[in-house]
Amino acid sequence: MEWTRDMRYRKMAEVADDEYLQLLEQTDKSPWRQHFHIQPPTGLMNDPNGFVYYNGEYHLFYQWFPLGAVHGVKYWYHLTSKDLVTFTPHGIALAPDTEYDSHGAYSGSGIVVDGELNLVYTGNHRTADWERIPYQLVAVLDAKGDFIKREQPIIRGPEEGYTEHFRDPKVWYDNGIYYAVMGAQRHDETGTIVVYRSKNFKDWEFIFELKTAYTNFGYMWECPDYFELDDHDVVLFCPQGIEASGDQFQNIYQSGYLIGSLNKSTFEMTHGEFTELDNGFDFYAPQTTVDKDGRRILFGWMGLPDTDYPTDQYNWAHCLTIPRELTVEDGRLRQRPLKAWESRRGEVETAEGYAMKHNIKLHPYEGSCYELIVDILENESTEFYIELRVSKKESTLLIYNKQERRFTLDRSESGQLCQEVNGTTRSVVLDSDLKQLQIFMDESSIEIFLNDGERVMTSRIFPSDDARGIRTSTESGQVYFKFTKYDFQEKQY
Ligand code: FRU
Repeated sequence: MEWTRDMRYRKMAEVADDEYLQLLEQTDKSPWRQHFHIQPPTGLMNDPNGFVYYNGEYHLFYQWFPLGAVHGVKYWYHLTSKDLVTFTPHGIALAPDTEYDSHGAYSGSGIVVDGELNLVYTGNHRTADWERIPYQLVAVLDAKGDFIKREQPIIRGPEEGYTEHFRDPKVWYDNGIYYAVMGAQRHDETGTIVVYRSKNFKDWEFIFELKTAYTNFGYMWECPDYFELDDHDVVLFCPQGIEASGDQFQNIYQSGYLIGSLNKSTFEMTHGEFTELDNGFDFYAPQTTVDKDGRRILFGWMGLPDTDYPTDQYNWAHCLTIPRELTVEDGRLRQRPLKAWESRRGEVETAEGYAMKHNIKLHPYEGSCYELIVDILENESTEFYIELRVSKKESTLLIYNKQERRFTLDRSESGQLCQEVNGTTRSVVLDSDLKQLQIFMDESSIEIFLNDGERVMTSRIFPSDDARGIRTSTESGQVYFKFTKYDFQEKQY
């Protein structure tokens, strides 16, 4: 089906209940619906937004186009959670229903100001000539649970020197001052981050760009985030237009971080290299917040813009990652699955033994929804292989080459394929020998935490129902594995 502009900008207010129910039914019939990941009821989800802890609950939202698996006019879909493990869905929190956000309630963040939950987001407005004007808007949660939009934008249009690509405010409070970083494109078509400041959360002034060594690094930076962590300053952003190089930057757009030291008066940052947050196929536009115990938690979008996925035919696309806790260790960001997720663990099966050149099926156990911890207790192999979601025809292949310390995820035989971007494998070279894998497998995704969060690889896969086996082997030599597998069956959302 050809999605015309009119179809993409059709609003829910014009959609009859019956029509929406049909869309829900269509999505319900889809294979590959997830069990424990946040996914849209139908339509397309993208960035996590407004992630914040407020009054004993976490609020999390996502960008949502309800009517199909395309990027149309965006809403904010709202969920809450007490523990970041299970979530309660609440439906639409922000609709594109004012002049300022008429063509989409785009990405933004949440912050508690004077005891009230505020959402700060980009209103995407287009003129009759289809010229885009981005406004930065605020909505406040009222006692009835509705988000009430402030009548006037806090920032109108881009600053002098920048194009219409000026969006995704991430706000924080520090020492009596509110700050916002936003993604921007300069007139010379390079990407950057701009910084605003406010004393009262009403009047905002543009102060400067956040100055990094990356002055010419892609044509636009989306979804910036800034925080202090373990005595370091960390900046996340999503540059677009970076060339692939070796194992790096293989996806259509990138998502990564800088660690260093930020001068809060000049907003100059000294930092190390831009490092990708995730080395898998499907990860973009993450957002972080501080949890009730002061930990920095991240959700990512398990998807990318401008790419077709096999679920599109069932009228839905994408999901969020599981939450990850961030720390800075040895100058790098480490990402571990949220500890509280251990409460999801069901029945456990364990096994240990050697994997050798000939395929041995380690176990009768199998599945499509689980957490699997693989401890690599001895490794004398040149290269070893772990295959998951195996059927006669399909398998999702993990490869570790000991000499190169190179870990590869190969989804070429995983089932139905996503639109191909730079091939069907992704690889990463580890800092140290591979000792452990922690894998979260859902109906249509795999998240692999390598060496206790040293690296993460996140990908969608679209296997058949009968692809449930687990197999190991080596190229030559043997490996001693210990497998611990937890069932993770709870159906959600
Ligand atoms: C990132 C992004 C943001 C924008 C939003 C629109 O995926 O393009 O920059 O605010 O999605 O849905």
